[in-house]
Amino acid sequence: MTAIAQRQQPTDNAQSADKVELHPDLNNALVRFINLGKTYNGQQGPVQALHNIDLAIQRGEIFGIIGRSGAGKSSLIRTINRLEQPSSGRVLINQVDIGELNEDRLVELRRRIGMIFQHFNLMSAKTVWQNVELPLKVAGVAKDQRQRKVGELLELVGLQDKHHAYPAQLSGGQKQRVGIARALVHDPDILLCDEATSALDPETTQSILGLLKEINQRLGLTIILITHEMAVIRDICDRVVVLEQGKVVEQGPVWQVFGSPQHEVSKTLLAPLQHGLPEDLQARLHAQPPQPDAALVLDLHFTGESGEEPDLAALFNALGGQIRLLNGGIERIQGRPLGHLLIAVAASRYSREELLSRARQQAQHVEVIGYVV
Ligand SMILES: Nc1ncnc2c1ncn2[C@@H]1O[C@H](COP(=O)(O)OP(=O)(O)OP(=O)(O)O)[C@@H](O)[C@H]1O
Ligand SMILES: [Mg+2]
Repeated sequence: MTAIAQRQQPTDNAQSADKVELHPDLNNALVRFINLGKTYNGQQGPVQALHNIDLAIQRGEIFGIIGRSGAGKSSLIRTINRLEQPSSGRVLINQVDIGELNEDRLVELRRRIGMIFQHFNLMSAKTVWQNVELPLKVAGVAKDQRQRKVGELLELVGLQDKHHAYPAQLSGGQKQRVGIARALVHDPDILLCDEATSALDPETTQSILGLLKEINQRLGLTIILITHEMAVIRDICDRVVVLEQGKVVEQGPVWQVFGSPQHEVSKTLLAPLQHGLPEDLQARLHAQPPQPDAALVLDLHFTGESGEEPDLAALFNALGGQIRLLNGGIERIQGRPLGHLLIAVAASRYSREELLSRARQQAQHVEVIGYVV
């Protein structure tokens, strides 16, 4: 059974708080993909971009989609507003199969779904105000209502002093703020973000993420976002799905997938975020003990399941001997402490096997890395 299948099986001993996160309520999902497939007619023949996708996104969550380039992330997100037509399967929004909507209802649906992009897609000959106002004009909204809405939104995104600026006079972060305001003109239920922060520097990314989080909380907006930046997922998402070659290979709450990635692709994508082994330490490592008193190096992994920080005294008591902390640390994701500690244990009264089993009482995963002298 794959990791994802295991995670989706209800288990009797799952904590009740986790049950909600791990097993989204399918009947109340805001967005549901059922057996979704998408095949493009590429120049070299058919390209199957999505296979049998089954996913549920809950109202009010910030849902992340990650995967390597070409994994099908944009294809998936674009089926939500039918910018892409599925080749098989269904997409339900609020339990309504959007494949069955007529043109008028589709226009209505698209107004309920805002979208922002990496390159902002602003009209260069129009001012900030006009860019945000345009979709309201197209929808035939009366002038006084337009004035009120655009004014409110530009204030929400912090551009109250840029009404008359043109896109070329704005920074990347400000352009994306215009993009966000424009995406919110019809009070959507869902905001789709395809690489919305990829063109921004880290500081600007943080300010846009802060804005998205604020909108999520203040307006109850459900946000579905694609990114190649794992830190973005870590910082604002509630749940995340990993796609690979058009298939879901892993999904779960961010603390769980980031704390203990199961699939090779997830491990690879997340590797830069995990605490790697420093090079000098790597160079000192031996696979077998080079001398009888060599210290055993253990990587203790804390996945956040217990919600508690590592208890160092308990750890040292459990292992006995001399313990040195070589590397590692704890970071907090969604309020849970995740991390790893790389320790060297020397002169313990316990055998290697005993040490391992005692270490496993303290940490969720324990791996022998090697030996150092
Ligand atoms: N219009 C199209 N015609 C033919 N093939 C397409 C089309 N759009 C996407 N594809 C193919 O479908 C697959 C998935 O593409 P998609 O754009 O969804 O990937 P992605 O995960 O968003 O990638 P990236 O991270 O690079 O944006 C790729 O193999 C891509 O080449
Ligand atoms: Mg894409």
